[in-house]
Amino acid sequence: MAVRNIREMGDEVLGKVCREVTRMNEHTRELIDDMLDTMYEANGVGLAAPQVGVLKRIVVIDVTGEDPIVLINPRIVESSGEQTGTEGCLSVPGKAGTVTRPMYVKAVALNEDMEEITVEGTELLARAICHELDHLEGHLYVEKVEGELMDAEPIEDEE
Ligand code: NI
Repeated sequence: MAVRNIREMGDEVLGKVCREVTRMNEHTRELIDDMLDTMYEANGVGLAAPQVGVLKRIVVIDVTGEDPIVLINPRIVESSGEQTGTEGCLSVPGKAGTVTRPMYVKAVALNEDMEEITVEGTELLARAICHELDHLEGHLYVEKVEGELMDAEPIEDEE
């Protein structure tokens, strides 16, 4: 287990389409463990493999801090509704922007044992699933931001 370096916007690896995972091995298990460590260390709610420089279709998500979800080769099979809210990304540090996403999504994926799982989420979990799956296609949320990209923590004016 180790914390890996998070790639930032401008790094070409973030613009590439990731490859499917065809079998589980020690190397990939270590990657998943490291992705979880890296996400928690950075206080993120999700992380996709390309963010640590690996072009594999793997994402980790934890919107509560105690319920990690590992999704391998995930795809969204159902979505409904709409939510508009603030989004950020560990690869775009210090920034945030308004993005509209579905209110509900259902995803099918494989878990770490390569067994098929179904994950349903609303609100933040739905948003995180959409955001992380976009990474696997080489897309960042900044492409979808409505209005301007903002500073995540605006510096308070002392006056
Ligand atoms: Ni992101």
